[in-house]
Amino acid sequence: MYNEMNLDKIDINLEPPTEEPARQYFFMAKCRAWVKEYEKNHNYLPSACVVNMGCQMNARDSEKLLGVLRAVGYQITDSEEADFVIYNTCTVRENANLKVYGRLGFLKTRKKKNPNMKIALCGCMMQEPVVVEKIKASYRFVDIIFGTHNIYKLAELIYENIVSKQMIVDIWESTDRIVEELPNKRKYPFKSGVNIMFGCNNFCSYCIVPYVRGRERSREPQDILREIRDLAADGVVEIMLLGQNVNSYGKSLKEPISFAELLRQCAQIEGIERIRFMTPHPKDLSEELIDVIKSSKKICKQIHLPLQSGSSRILKQMNRRYTKEQYLSLVERIRAAIPEVSLTTDIIVGFPGETEEDFEETLDVVRAVQFDSAFTFIYSKRTGTPAAEMEDQVPEEVVKVRFDRLLKEIQQISSKLTKQGVGKTEQVLVEEINAQSPELVTGRLENNLLVHFPGDASYIGQLVPVTLTEAKGFYYLGECVR
Ligand code: SAH
Ligand code: SF4
Ligand code: F3S
Repeated sequence: MYNEMNLDKIDINLEPPTEEPARQYFFMAKCRAWVKEYEKNHNYLPSACVVNMGCQMNARDSEKLLGVLRAVGYQITDSEEADFVIYNTCTVRENANLKVYGRLGFLKTRKKKNPNMKIALCGCMMQEPVVVEKIKASYRFVDIIFGTHNIYKLAELIYENIVSKQMIVDIWESTDRIVEELPNKRKYPFKSGVNIMFGCNNFCSYCIVPYVRGRERSREPQDILREIRDLAADGVVEIMLLGQNVNSYGKSLKEPISFAELLRQCAQIEGIERIRFMTPHPKDLSEELIDVIKSSKKICKQIHLPLQSGSSRILKQMNRRYTKEQYLSLVERIRAAIPEVSLTTDIIVGFPGETEEDFEETLDVVRAVQFDSAFTFIYSKRTGTPAAEMEDQVPEEVVKVRFDRLLKEIQQISSKLTKQGVGKTEQVLVEEINAQSPELVTGRLENNLLVHFPGDASYIGQLVPVTLTEAKGFYYLGECVR
């Protein structure tokens, strides 16, 4: 594993190595010398902040960026008042994009006050050529722009910017490489995301992810298992395996392996107490996977199974490759094998051509499945996707009314299901002191719901038994019974 001491042993006067990750360690050492010089000249250590704007994959990427920044010697902060600010962007919906432009305006005024400040933009939004053109034309104060395929190059890009003092733009259209063994800095000491694959081959017709994250690539199982063993040795008790469709993990490796088999092997790692994963696509969730979840104590009995729509006609237009009936039958099979399972989902309202009848089908599935919780999204037109070209885009007012109806239905079900948990005693992984009431701590149940209960900082990172005393819609109040 990465060791900070190594950097000081690197001779930065030599030519940079060509192979990875050695090349990046070389540039980290170069940047580190620059940071030390900066400290000497300015009498303070420069600070750096990474703002994560996207999903769990982006969050994990942010941890990798922070790992490099820490190795380079920056003081890491959560505040955007930092000397180096990186926005790790998302572009899955239009409003995510708009937010970035707004916040760049704010950074511009900050940079006027602190001319040494550096600003970098990365993540999914930067994989869109129109975005990069716009930033190059109208946001000249940005120092570094890079994409999703080359985040491992951060140190090299910082160094190029230090030397050239010019805007550095490095976007790759695609990649087939995965660079292992780079540093990272976890947000939580006790839990971590673990990438098992990158990219997506599914091309759901509304979704921009395959265009900005490229084709599916799986990591070698031994690299994943080694990372998890290292995490366990470093105090991590919960991991979340990450991929756009974890069900297709391992299929294209030289020695193919199924996701279920990978999970089985992960569950054997000592010290890891809880395993989650995201996201399994309903089109190819295997019986083998249901079996593994059922038979392992460590694998959380919670499955996030994105429905998107309950109408088979719309699902076909979405290119989801399952029907309403197939989805419901999958749920039935999962429930028959694992009766206590908690099911959560994602739903899009207002996909082009969605009629009142289609929407009713979605409500019908919601009522039939009784999801513990659901993320609901208003359809957002993403240029370049097939759905953006479809006729019959649903008027905004109609979508809003449907969205509110769906939300109401989901909230009623969630709150009813949460009430059924009152009185039970369950294991909770404590995450933090409650921000509003410092005499309480906040943790997560196996089904991912939050519980607040009396406790102190010594609980953080521990799995403790908690009796659920009161249901509050989406969360519980409880008492620790340790
Ligand atoms: N790979 C995951 C989803 C990743 S994107 C899967 O297949 O389930 C997370 C969620 O964003 C999706 O499940 C979908 O509900 C939503 N989403 C994606 N594109 C969208 C769009 N154009 N408009 C609205 N919501 C969208
Ligand atoms: Fe997007 Fe579909 Fe891939 Fe998920 S599976 S990332 S929704 S294209
Ligand atoms: Fe994630 Fe957003 Fe990219 S959802 S994969 S950060 S477009």
